[in-house]
Amino acid sequence: MVWRIIKYLEHQLYRRHRKGRGIHPPYLFSFVHDVVFNTPGTDIPHEISEMHRNLWKDRTMIGERTVGSFVCGSSVSPRYGELLFRITRWFCPDMILELGTGLGVSTMYLGQGYPGVPLHSIEGNTERAAFAAQLVCRCHLEQVSIHWGDLDRKLEEILPQLDGRFVAFVDANHSYEPTIRYVRAILEKAGDEAVIIMDDIYWSRGMSRAWKEVISWPGISVSIDLFHMGILLLRKDLNKAHVKIKS
Ligand SMILES: C[S@@+](CC[C@H](N)C(=O)[O-])C[C@H]1O[C@@H](n2cnc3c(N)ncnc32)[C@H](O)[C@@H]1O
Repeated sequence: MVWRIIKYLEHQLYRRHRKGRGIHPPYLFSFVHDVVFNTPGTDIPHEISEMHRNLWKDRTMIGERTVGSFVCGSSVSPRYGELLFRITRWFCPDMILELGTGLGVSTMYLGQGYPGVPLHSIEGNTERAAFAAQLVCRCHLEQVSIHWGDLDRKLEEILPQLDGRFVAFVDANHSYEPTIRYVRAILEKAGDEAVIIMDDIYWSRGMSRAWKEVISWPGISVSIDLFHMGILLLRKDLNKAHVKIKS
């Protein structure tokens, strides 16, 4: 915990850019300006925000915890959910992949951002996967498939379908080795352009190490460190750039 606070303070101190000012190249500037920061006209549908608020209050037991406690403690916040929504809406992917469905909150934002393309989400816990499947039905996200099972096994089944332009959200096992393995496997499927989002990049020393290592790989052109999330913009024609941003 103390380590995370120190990392947070470091991030606040060393972040360089506010609202995209001073960022090059233009592609990265436009991503930061138009997508990371909420610009007028990119508001989230009211039903999604309401659904999220209702989940906070939901006392249904899922395993040892209530839905509300899981959603408050382990799901994306509305702010970061909205960012996921804006990313899929901006990127217009051919497919969306999510590792770690939880109760389906992030799935709901990713899917609403660009409905109509397949979204495959993997969750290892049966009860959570079942709850998430109901949630996406309530949001009328027919394109979403929740895959219940161990990530390594399910990823092996789904990866051959991952093609073209995709958005991948990695929010499952928050430790070094599996994170590196998942991101590497996804990266190998990237064509000319893709987006990989890693959640909780300073959750632990292991996650921070994984993030540092991933952004040093030659295949990673642009990386954006928002402290709570790390975004990798993959495009073959971009030079390497790394920015730390207070969102
Ligand atoms: C932080 S939660 C996901 C929250 C969700 N992305 C959201 O924001 O709404 C991480 C989930 O990953 C799942 N998970 C962790 N390791 C896994 C594994 N090896 N196989 C399948 N699921 C796993 C956990 O069961 C947990 O529900």
